[in-house]
Amino acid sequence: MRVTRLCRRVVSASMVMLLIMWLIRSIDSSSNVEKQLRLLKSQGNPSSSRLMWVPSKSELAAVFQAWFLPKTAASNSEPLNDYYTLKDLTKSTCMTGGRKVWDLRFPCYAFDARFTTALYYKHLQNSLNHREIEFSWYDWKDLGSVLNPLITSKPPENPQCQDIFKAYDDSQRSVSSSNKWGSFPKASLENFPLSSYCTNSLKSPIGFQIHRIQPLCEAESLVLQSSSFLFSGGCVPKKLVFLMEDGPAVQASVKTSAAYLSLASSDILEEFLLSHNELESNLVFDPSKEIRGLINSSFSNPRPDKGFLSELNPEAFEFDPIAQIKLLSQSESLSEREHSYLNALMFEQECKFSGNEKYKYFHESSSVQNPPDNFQNHMDVRFFSGWVPKWKRLRILNSLMRTWLEFTKSENLTSWLAHSSLHAYLYSGLQFPWVASQDVQMPVQDLHTLAMLYNQTLVVESPWEGYGRFLIDVQPFITSRDQGENPDAIDARFIDIDTGLFIDIMGVGFSSNALTNTRVMSQLRGDRNREDGAPTSSDESNTQSSENQASSKSLRFNKANGIVSEKSGKSYLISDISPLRTSKYHGRPVSIPHRALTIAKDEFHIVPWLYGPKQRQEKHKFVPALGSWLDLPTLKALLGPRNVQGAHKISSYQLEEALNSFLEKSASHYEEVLYWINSQDQFKFRLEELAIESSDLALDNKYELLETLQENYSSLRPSSEDPFLHEKRITKWKECANQANTAVGSQEYSNIIIKEVMKSFVKVFIANHGLKLKQEDIKIPDNSTRLVSASLYNLRERSAESMLEAPQVFKADFAL
Ligand SMILES: *[C@@H]1O[C@H](CO)[C@@H](O)[C@H](O)[C@H]1NC(C)=O
Ligand SMILES: *[C@@H]1O[C@H](CO)[C@@H](O)[C@H](O)[C@H]1NC(C)=O
Ligand SMILES: *[C@@H]1O[C@H](CO)[C@@H](O)[C@H](O)[C@H]1NC(C)=O
Ligand SMILES: *[C@@H]1O[C@H](CO)[C@@H](O)[C@H](O)[C@H]1NC(C)=O
Ligand SMILES: *[C@@H]1O[C@H](CO)[C@@H](O)[C@H](O)[C@H]1NC(C)=O
Repeated sequence: MRVTRLCRRVVSASMVMLLIMWLIRSIDSSSNVEKQLRLLKSQGNPSSSRLMWVPSKSELAAVFQAWFLPKTAASNSEPLNDYYTLKDLTKSTCMTGGRKVWDLRFPCYAFDARFTTALYYKHLQNSLNHREIEFSWYDWKDLGSVLNPLITSKPPENPQCQDIFKAYDDSQRSVSSSNKWGSFPKASLENFPLSSYCTNSLKSPIGFQIHRIQPLCEAESLVLQSSSFLFSGGCVPKKLVFLMEDGPAVQASVKTSAAYLSLASSDILEEFLLSHNELESNLVFDPSKEIRGLINSSFSNPRPDKGFLSELNPEAFEFDPIAQIKLLSQSESLSEREHSYLNALMFEQECKFSGNEKYKYFHESSSVQNPPDNFQNHMDVRFFSGWVPKWKRLRILNSLMRTWLEFTKSENLTSWLAHSSLHAYLYSGLQFPWVASQDVQMPVQDLHTLAMLYNQTLVVESPWEGYGRFLIDVQPFITSRDQGENPDAIDARFIDIDTGLFIDIMGVGFSSNALTNTRVMSQLRGDRNREDGAPTSSDESNTQSSENQASSKSLRFNKANGIVSEKSGKSYLISDISPLRTSKYHGRPVSIPHRALTIAKDEFHIVPWLYGPKQRQEKHKFVPALGSWLDLPTLKALLGPRNVQGAHKISSYQLEEALNSFLEKSASHYEEVLYWINSQDQFKFRLEELAIESSDLALDNKYELLETLQENYSSLRPSSEDPFLHEKRITKWKECANQANTAVGSQEYSNIIIKEVMKSFVKVFIANHGLKLKQEDIKIPDNSTRLVSASLYNLRERSAESMLEAPQVFKADFAL
């Protein structure tokens, strides 16, 4: 028996009385979830055992708990699954309009990542030695919500290119269609004719094709453009990488195939159905089941492991494009991707000598004309699907980062945290809630490996983790690190294809950039004076020389001193970065530069009072008891305006009161509360790490303890759920809740249930709060207590207990 089915049952008006009586009985019954689950299971088909069925209070509570609270044994119970079945698929299909493509009508249905991945996992098992697959964006991103209405409507109701774009001087074009497209916000054509953006085409199930996107338009127009662009075969990946839990990823290259072929009309679906004997409507598309066969057949070599500390070879920061071009040109059989990489290398070399202009490759949503707030300039236009609300953004940033870390680990690529991601890591091990992207760096060698092997690769998250799908896109001009030469300071992106949000990937290598980092300058000067008092670089470069000579001199100087930089010009000493150390970010193993704090201090103002009263950034305060940054309005709502100042020192008693009254104000606050509670273990890990980092121990001892700590916290719960599943569940939850609300006749009914579930969750959280220590543990004057995380932050039972003195952990980098 499945919850969806339960929720969709229609309640007939004449039976309402009966229903209410039944409900009243179940409300009074025990709230024991386990018991309810057993009951649910034993019931089988609800309609056979009962005349009327709507989820009872405890059943609704069980659903909420299973879908939104962290995994427990109960959430794996059969009755609370929310599988995607053949019946769901057939129910979502729609009638296509008049157009036939190659004698076939385009089969139109709703997108579900579980359908797509389950089919592909099965298909890959059956084609082990021949891993070439077909690809259509329609099955990898939800284009249907935008395009299915166009696919199902006949030509006059469809937009034509003229309805989507308007020529610059064509503002009073009065031909505007009589249908609704007449008033659709149009994108202005700029430098190119209409035909380079769009052509009307009878071959296309939507009646037109988009070849190029014009991002200077309203959001609604951009969504239609980008969906149609992908649907028309734009930006098809060259390869797919399916991540596995622990084993090596499975890779498959994409066949260049005809457009407008989707899974529903493919052999892949037929193959899947044939391999499952029951052709019933409750056939489940279960990726985590299908992937098992794939793991078994390909599990041979274990993953590479770079170890807890990993030393970077200076050669990793050097790249010789000429040698690479030579090497690739001699190769007999280049893949399409290698070919495009070779072309990019050659084009960049040409630019150097022929004066060809480099162009900007990445296009962000920053030109959208009606942005609701300035967070949102960080979406790739090709995947733009509308504005993303805060909690969805945080779920996606979490999933982006966790998958990137999985991917680089699986493919043995080196990358480490940078900029805002590194800064945020220092406090909580999680990205700041006010940013819209993540940042990583990698040595140029690895960047080129990424370009050659994985440019235009779609990375598919393991279904045990989630249903994320991310595109690796490397811009053409990645060889030079020289500042001012490049329209894009970013070398590559890891892009969430559902929203267009991304991780910025920046290569780090030797360059002829002049050193501007004063910290590095004075360090070098210090080193020199200690050695032989030789003149510093600025003295050397005073000579009258041509620009070229100066730049090669700079390059020599940088190489001799181990100075590397990003395209933006930001410089680092290799010894600031290497050896990389393993820590955790978003709950996953991550590489951190050797002098993480020093590097972050070059860029940000960091106060030594890590979790103290002065810790305020971007109108957020850090609340250690919640391990999270809270914006001031939320903080006021949570603690009351008068207690905001003391947010860093609330006691566990105050915390419980505050959380409960916060939930009482609005059930919708559950999302925030869940995020805080789910981030707690990650923060606790970071605290324990900081305790070791800031202790008096010798460096080797610190490393030893930190490595043990890694093992002790081998798996950390993610701070938020899988974004795809969450959206699905929220929709279904609302259906269930509305139905129950209607049956009971109160719109508050489901909210009361949420509040109750959340309050008991808060109670358990407070009781097990990882940062609480017994009084006697704190008082031990022995040095070993400095390794107790609570010496950095302690959640007191009552506010009468004395506060610990906040140590200045951010005074100096721990490694120095
Ligand atoms: C895994 O492979 C082994 C032999 O290689 C086979 O005996 C076994 O049935 C396979 N298991 C699955 C689940 O495919
Ligand atoms: C992984 O990469 C490192 C260099 O970063 C290399 O030394 C090592 O051999 C690689 N391991 C595997 C299994 O490819
Ligand atoms: C990556 O792929 C895109 C699209 O094919 C191409 O334009 C770009 O030049 C490639 N980048 C590199 C470094 O090969
Ligand atoms: C790791 O866990 C063990 C056993 O619980 C504990 O004794 C040890 O102190 C922990 N090590 C660190 C560095 O936390
Ligand atoms: C304990 O700390 C003091 C000062 O902080 C230091 O002098 C002493 O060596 C430390 N003892 C041990 C065993 O680390």
